[in-house]
Amino acid sequence: MEFTDLARQRRSVRKFKDEPINKEEIVEIIRIATQAPSPGNDQMWSFQVVINEEAKEKMVDIVTKKLERLIFELKMNSEQYKQIIKAATFFVEAPAVIVVSTKQYRSKIDAMLKESGLNEKDIDSLRARPDLQSVGAAIQNLLLAAWEKGYGTCWMTGPCIARHELEVFLGITQPRSLAALIPIGKPKIIPVSRGRKPLEDVVSFIE
Ligand SMILES: Cc1cc2nc3c(=O)[nH]c(=O)nc-3n(C[C@H](O)[C@H](O)[C@H](O)COP(=O)(O)O)c2cc1C
Repeated sequence: MEFTDLARQRRSVRKFKDEPINKEEIVEIIRIATQAPSPGNDQMWSFQVVINEEAKEKMVDIVTKKLERLIFELKMNSEQYKQIIKAATFFVEAPAVIVVSTKQYRSKIDAMLKESGLNEKDIDSLRARPDLQSVGAAIQNLLLAAWEKGYGTCWMTGPCIARHELEVFLGITQPRSLAALIPIGKPKIIPVSRGRKPLEDVVSFIE
């Protein structure tokens, strides 16, 4: 498929067919994801593919418990409750969930900033989290590579509300941290385009 068509036609898929996914194809999709750029070619991303049903259920349990606590504190009604839980846990229906983690990137400039007396938080605010930007580039490659092969995906950060608990379960330890979950599988429903803002709203030239 032409790149333009791929980029235009890809959708976030939230309903998956009950068909297993070929491991080799997942590895190939991740190979394409890792062609993304990263500062200093650091390639700080890492991908864990969860295909074990019990592990997926456990992840749902972790996210649900975290949300339930919040929903209870905020006294939300049961309809809102169901929708929020569903929106953050539908990844369980996909035959595989790709867990993407990252690690902060520190360059020579960062070392200079540290030496000049800035703390880590100040450095982050100046440096715009290149690790997350790199992971974002890799994830976009992954979504497009999956789509080209007939697989649907959904980039999900919603479940990261339980980031620390998920990290413990998945064995993601410092200095790594969870960035996103990506359910992947054959689409059961392909949603219509959600549309995009007019370009005039998002593009400007400084002439
Ligand atoms: C960083 C990021 C986080 C997202 N998190 C979620 C999520 O937690 N749950 C979800 O259903 N969709 C999530 N999405 C998907 C967006 O809702 C979706 O991309 C957007 O509505 C546009 O739809 P499209 O991808 O089909 O074009 C996320 C997308 C991005 C880029």
